[in-house]
Parts: sequence; C-alpha cells; structure tokens
Amino acid sequence: MYSTYQILLLVFCFYLANNSINVLSAASEPKPIAYILFCGTSSQDAVDSDGRKWNSDGNFLLPSDNSTISEALSQDPSLPSTVPYMNARIFTSNSSYNFIVPPRTRIWLRLHFYPSRYNYLDPSKAYFSVIGNGFTLLNNFSAFITAKALTQAYIAREFSLPPVETGNLDIAIVPSEGSHAFINGIEVIPMPHDIFQHPAALVGYSDHPVDLHSSSLQTMFRLNVGGQFITPNNDSGGLKRTWFDDSPYLLGAAFGVTSNADKNVRIQYSKDVTEDVAPLNVYSTARTMGPDPNVNWNYNLTWVFRVDPGFIYVVRLHFCEFDFNKVNQRVFDIYVNNQTVQSGADVIAWVDSQGLPIYKDYAIHVEDQSRAGESEIWVALHPNASTKPEHYDAILNGLEVFKVNDTNATLAGLNPEPSAMLVNAEEHEKELSPSRSRLGRLLCGVAGGVFCCATVAAILVFIRRKTNYWLLINGDSHTLTIGGHCRRFTLWEIKQGTNHFDESKVIGIGGFGKVYKGTIDYGATKVAIKRSNPDSHQGVKEFHTEIQMLSKLRHRHLVSLIGFCEENGEMILVYDYMANGTLREHLYNTDKPPLPWKKRLEIAIGAAKGLHYLHTGAAKYTIIHRDVKTTNILLDENWVSKVSDFGLSKTGPNLDQTHVNTVVKGSFGYLDPEYYRRQQLTEKSDVYSFGVVLFEVLCGRPPLKRNLCREQACLVDWALQCLRKGNVHEIIDPCLMGKVNPWCLEIFAEAAQKCVSDRGSDRPSMGDVLRNLEFCLQLEEYTDIQL
Ligand SMILES: *[C@@H]1O[C@H](CO)[C@@H](O)[C@H](O)[C@H]1NC(C)=O
Ligand SMILES: *[C@@H]1O[C@H](CO)[C@@H](O)[C@H](O)[C@H]1NC(C)=O
Ligand SMILES: *[C@@H]1O[C@H](CO)[C@@H](O)[C@H](O)[C@H]1NC(C)=O
Ligand SMILES: *[C@@H]1O[C@H](CO)[C@@H](O)[C@H](O)[C@H]1NC(C)=O
Ligand SMILES: *[C@@H]1O[C@H](CO)[C@@H](O)[C@H](O)[C@H]1NC(C)=O
Ligand SMILES: *[C@@H]1O[C@H](CO)[C@@H](O)[C@H](O)[C@H]1NC(C)=O
Ligand SMILES: *[C@@H]1O[C@H](CO)[C@@H](O)[C@H](O)[C@H]1NC(C)=O
Ligand SMILES: *[C@@H]1O[C@H](CO)[C@@H](O)[C@H](O)[C@H]1NC(C)=O
Ligand SMILES: *[C@@H]1O[C@H](CO)[C@@H](O)[C@H](O)[C@H]1NC(C)=O
Repeated sequence: MYSTYQILLLVFCFYLANNSINVLSAASEPKPIAYILFCGTSSQDAVDSDGRKWNSDGNFLLPSDNSTISEALSQDPSLPSTVPYMNARIFTSNSSYNFIVPPRTRIWLRLHFYPSRYNYLDPSKAYFSVIGNGFTLLNNFSAFITAKALTQAYIAREFSLPPVETGNLDIAIVPSEGSHAFINGIEVIPMPHDIFQHPAALVGYSDHPVDLHSSSLQTMFRLNVGGQFITPNNDSGGLKRTWFDDSPYLLGAAFGVTSNADKNVRIQYSKDVTEDVAPLNVYSTARTMGPDPNVNWNYNLTWVFRVDPGFIYVVRLHFCEFDFNKVNQRVFDIYVNNQTVQSGADVIAWVDSQGLPIYKDYAIHVEDQSRAGESEIWVALHPNASTKPEHYDAILNGLEVFKVNDTNATLAGLNPEPSAMLVNAEEHEKELSPSRSRLGRLLCGVAGGVFCCATVAAILVFIRRKTNYWLLINGDSHTLTIGGHCRRFTLWEIKQGTNHFDESKVIGIGGFGKVYKGTIDYGATKVAIKRSNPDSHQGVKEFHTEIQMLSKLRHRHLVSLIGFCEENGEMILVYDYMANGTLREHLYNTDKPPLPWKKRLEIAIGAAKGLHYLHTGAAKYTIIHRDVKTTNILLDENWVSKVSDFGLSKTGPNLDQTHVNTVVKGSFGYLDPEYYRRQQLTEKSDVYSFGVVLFEVLCGRPPLKRNLCREQACLVDWALQCLRKGNVHEIIDPCLMGKVNPWCLEIFAEAAQKCVSDRGSDRPSMGDVLRNLEFCLQLEEYTDIQL
C-alpha cells in the first residue's frame, strides 16, 4: 500500500515530468527537490557565473497571468552574474506563483531583485508586497530604496517558511496602489530536516520560549566566523546558502585571532548537527580572543548587527572546539545585547569531544532603541574565570541572525531611510544623473551582497583597518582644491576647441560620455576633451576625484590632465592628446597593423611603470587604480604608453570620513576574484587586472569572448589551462608566432600567470612584474643583436 505521502510524491514527480522542469535531487530522504528559477526570459534555462543552472519561471504562473518580461537596460558592474539579475518579470496587477513542494517540509525561499530600468519603468516607482503561504514577507517594499540604503546594486532576500500539510507553496506578488512589481529570481529549496524544530529561549524571559517550528524566518546575517566566504555551491546539504566573512561586523580594535582546525583533527557531523545546519568548513575555522590572557580579560570580542526594530530575532551561534579536548580548558560567557545569555560556556563539556559541532539559539526582542532603523544586536564573548580554566579565552565558529515573524505573521519592516549623509551627497549628483543612484554603488556594501545589512559600526571598523592603504584626499566636493598644474577653462574656450562639440570630432565614447579631439590656445595644442553626458554614471564625485588625482600626479606613464571646465552643469576634462589611441585598438578587432612583440613589451613596461608609481610613488600612500584594462592604457604619438581613467580610483575615506566605497567596481573580465569575494581592496587587485592585460597582449584577444566554447570564453581560465599543459603556442597571438624569443615568452607568460593568482598574497607587486618585463625586453634586445 502506498502512503498518502508516497502518492503525493508520485503525483509530484508526474507533474514535474509533464512539465519538463529540471529537478535537482539528492540521495537523502525525503527527496529535496529544488526550483531555481530566473524570471523574465523566454529561454528555458541558463547558467550563472557559479555554474548553477536556472530554469524559467513561466510554468509556475497561472496561464492567464498578465505579467510581462523584460531585460534590464543597464548592467551594474557589481552584479555577480547576469543570470538571474539581468531579466525581470514585471507585474502590474496581483499575481501568484504556485509550487508543489514536499509536504511537512520547511522551505528555504530566496528572492532576487535588481532595481534597474525595465521597459522604461522607473525602478524607484516600484512598491510591492510578497506574501508566501500567508506570511507577509515584504510589504510596500522598494528594492530601489533598499538597495540604495545598503549601497548595493541588487538585493537577495532569504526566508524560510514553516512546513505545511498540503505541500503547496503559494507566493503572491501584490503591487502597491498605482505601482508595479518586479522579480528577477526565485529559489525554492526544501530543507530535509527542519533546523528550526526546537523553540529558542527568549533572553530575559526564560519561561517564554519562542516557537520557531511554526514561524517563518528571514535570514539577516550568516557568517563563517574566522573563515572565508562560502559560495552557494560550497554549502552543505545542497541548500545553497551563502556564508560571509565576519570581520566587517566586529566592533572596536580588538579582533581576536582566526584559527583553523589542525589537519589531524577530524571535524564531523553528529546526530544533532547534520549537513543541513552548516558546512564543515564553518566548523573548521574559528575566531578566538588571542594568546594573551591579560588582553583577553580586558575586552569583549563583539559583533554588531543592525536590524529592523520591533521583531524577535534568533541568534544562532555555531561552535566546534578543535584546539582543546578537555573540559575546563576554555570557558567563557556569552552576552547578547549586554545581557548574559550563557555563563560558563565550555564547548567540550557540551559535546564531550573535540571536533564535534554544536549550535545554540538565543532569541531576543529588539525594541526601537533610538531612531527608526537604527536598532542593533550585539553579540559579545568574554572569558569566565570562576572555574579557573586553563585559558582565558573564547571561541566562535559561525553566527547566524534570523528575524522571526510577528504575531500578525509578517516579517516585513519599513523601507530603510538612507542616511542623511547619503542623501546630502546625492543632492549634488541629482542634476547630473537623475536616472541612477551613483552612491548606491559607491559606498559600502561590506558583505558583498546577499543579506548584507551592514552596520555603520561595521563600516567604521573596516575603515580603521584599511585606512593605511589609501590615499586620503580632501573629500568635500564643494571645497575642491586644485593643484598648481591644473588650468580652468571656460565653456567658450572648450566650444571653440571642439567646433561646438562637433560629432565628427568624437574619438571615443565611454561610460562617462564622449571624448572629443580638440584644441586649446587658439588651435596651438591638440587635446582630448572628455565631456560628461548628463545621464551618464559619472557623478560630480568621480569628476572631482579625477581632477584631484591627476592634478597631483605627474608621471611619464600617466595621462596628464591639462585642465577642466565646470560651467553650466557641464563637467569637462582636458587631457593630453594621445595620437595612437588605446592599446586595445592595436591588439584585436582592428584593421590596424599588428603590433610587433618588442613594441608590445615596451607598452606593457610603460603601463607597469605607471601603476608601480601609483602603488608606491605617489605621496606616502598607495593609490589603487581599480579599472586597469587595455582601453585605459593609451598611446601617444611616440608609442609611449600612459595609464588613464582615474574615475574609479580608490581614494580612501571620503564624505565625512566614515564611509568608504568597497562595492566592487571595475570591468568584467578584469575583476580580481578575491576582491570580488571578500571586498577587500588592495593594490593586488590592480596586479590581477594587469595580468589580464598581459594575457591580452600575448594572445591578441579580449578577456571575455562569449561566442567561444565555455572552455575558451574566459581568457584567463583558458590561458592558465594551456600554460599548465605547457601549450603556450595554443594561446599566443598568431601574428607573433615564431617571432618571440622562447625564453622571453616563458618569463612573460609566467609573470602574467603569477599576476592572476587566485590569492592576492600570491601575486607579485607591480615592481616585481616590472622587473620581469624589463628582463624580457633585455632578452628580446639581445636576440635582436644576435640576428
Ligand atoms: C489582468 O489584468 C486585468 C486588468 O488589467 C484584470 O482585470 C485581470 O483580473 C488580470 N488577470 C489576472 C489573472 O490577474
Ligand atoms: C491584491 O491582493 C491584495 C492582498 O491579497 C488585496 O488586498 C487586493 O484587494 C488585491 N487587489 C486586487 C485588484 O485584486
Ligand atoms: C510605501 O512606502 C513609501 C516610501 O517608503 C511611502 O511613501 C508610501 O506611502 C508607502 N505606501 C503604502 C501604501 O504604505
Ligand atoms: C568549493 O568547491 C569547489 C568545487 O566544488 C572546490 O574546488 C573548492 O575548493 C571549494 N572551496 C572551498 C573554500 O571549500
Ligand atoms: C551595550 O552596551 C554598550 C556600552 O555600555 C552600549 O554602547 C551599547 O549600545 C549596548 N548595546 C545594546 C544593544 O544595548
Ligand atoms: C563585556 O560585556 C558585558 C555585557 O555588556 C559588560 O557587562 C562587560 O563590562 C564587558 N566587559 C568588558 C571588558 O568590556
Ligand atoms: C561564570 O560561569 C559561572 C557558571 O558557569 C557563573 O555562575 C558565573 O556567573 C560566571 N561568571 C560571570 C562573571 O559571568
Ligand atoms: C509567526 O506566525 C505564525 C503563524 O501565524 C504564528 O503561529 C507564530 O506564533 C508567529 N510567531 C511569533 C514569534 O509570533
Ligand atoms: C498587528 O496588526 C494590528 C492591526 O493591524 C496592529 O494593531 C498590531 O500592532 C499588529 N501587531 C504587531 C506586532 O505589529
């Protein structure tokens, strides 16, 4: 006899088979069946940058549905992948998605939003609610405002919905009055074992446990404490969660130390902690207070999170002791919001053994403490001496914060209010780029995305630790101080020099606007004139950054700024004219004659010198270019290469010196994967991009070539693969074949290879790269003499 459950499962499989939906399944019982859907395209499936397959959402809407589909008009460089973000489904009336899910199973639900222009609909006008099985997940939600306040390009929200008997999941999309709704991606992933089965004790009300089993929860933060970013593909149990680095959330100057389990210590799941709870990677790394008992005694290891007021939150702490194996070796107290939630915590005493994980849930009600949207959760650890433990220390391996629905079954908070500082800074930009929040991408997106609700405190910490890398320049755009080398032109002079911005004088178009070939001083000097396009991405801030940077920096291998013009809302920069254009236009997709190898080397060396100067020579600080690519390496009439375009340069704390832009910027194909993952900017990100440039120079092809097979599409991946096999001849530009000294080729390829090392610490400095390239050139010249 079949049980009802088996019948349902059969019906379900039949349904799936008939709808030819791709189904992911794992071996465990009950079978977790996931829907990973991208919305708003007519294609059936697509693969994201992580290699994950997404299917079309169309099969889950009513056939009579009124929604439309559309592609985003612009692509923010910080999007992790075009799938699912570049397409959206647009709703102008109530609508709903229906899924059949295993009954009596908790569901992870992830919603992805990229507030961009779709069908010319203004993203700032989209307000909508999302209701999942009767729980209000979002209410009058503006993805635009939320993204702006969090300074992220996109928003991903993760919820978990309690089990229902029927195995139905209904997600209603309700546009607010006179508004529209949009959604880019939906993930529905059943959780084989409910990890919220047990009630959590409410801090301060020990007799009032919070029932999690019948509640829906929203993931606010999920951190691999003392460890690395874990991608959805590396999560355990096929649950596709993302785990972030915890360091941005640490309070104050005392960060403790991070540690990894020794290879000899076996970390393993137990009956209570299965792969559904967290990946073993989380348990094999930890943050402890440090080796000095006096130091530890005098501080609290504290994490701070900003949350919506008026809700109960569950703080889940993950522990696994791998340094010690006896009771009373490391004993500590745990505070949540300054209240003791656990005294005398001893991980070994809890689990009896080294390498066995355990987690503890503490529920806390967060009141509106001061201003709306400024409520915080503090989690602090401090050694406990009452039992005279061997070490005055504490340990934490993972930390999650979940919001619990209120008694009205809602999880929705208010739309955030962007900080006054953000609003102020944006005022200056409004007249120039009304369409897109520039600051939205400029300021901090500390944790890189998914459920990042970065706290200001976290940002402060981040800055304090990183400040030494950055050039501090005068941040107030109104009191711009221009160095002595820079001239101010009148708009009249500029118009004279460009024949009133004659289209025939356009020599380039960038994100910023058009570049004209022109003259100044009544025709005496040729110049390049960069004119901001009023609805470009370039804001006043970038404009001033570039002026300030360039007027201070003088170097043979940096493009010289001659002056600027700021009049009538125009933002114009005047540069030395670079007669030979960009490096790229001599490498590929061109009818210009191919560059000989020696010239390529000289150009690469020049650019390396320019970057080396930025990293080491300019003032006392490191300047990080952030957008090194072949179109930003220009060539003058004597083929001297010069690095250009400092619009994205990292210049350190600006505005009121508390915020810092760490949102990933740069160009696709050149982005340092580590910067991308960890959002920690160092000069090694430029080294990575320069490595890509070196490969372009060697191979004569673009960094990304989508029409090629997957294996070859990405230049770096392909080149590394060929080099590993020793097939350098497979990648070299055909016009260089046989014209390069093999020894030189080897050194050059090795230098490029090192530059694109996965970890920044494994990459050479620009100085080292420069030495290698100069050595190559010497070899090449030696060859010339021989011939
Ligand atoms: C489609 O839109 C019309 C009006 O715009 C509305 O009356 C109708 O109910 C909608 N259909 C569905 C399935 O929502
Ligand atoms: C849309 O759904 C909401 C919430 O369920 C409901 O209050 C509203 O009346 C619906 N609007 C229409 C036009 O059906
Ligand atoms: C939706 O939110 C916006 C801004 O947060 C607010 O102006 C508007 O009144 C809200 N609408 C409703 C129906 O609550
Ligand atoms: C993530 O998974 C990939 C393969 O799936 C593996 O090569 C990589 O080492 C993993 N990363 C971590 C940090 O475990
Ligand atoms: C905890 O205490 C510190 C210092 O006494 C205070 O600054 C902080 O706001 C408190 N945190 C919470 C969440 O109450
Ligand atoms: C640690 O935090 C607790 C709770 O807020 C506080 O009472 C204690 O004074 C703090 N200890 C130190 C050394 O800061
Ligand atoms: C240390 O732990 C013991 C019990 O484990 C507890 O009674 C004591 O209050 C704790 N000490 C502090 C300072 O919290
Ligand atoms: C969440 O909503 C459910 C269903 O309405 C309810 O049973 C549960 O008590 C709510 N949780 C809390 C903490 O109020
Ligand atoms: C639930 O809804 C009622 C009516 O809208 C409201 O008065 C009450 O404050 C809400 N409760 C919570 C916890 O928000």
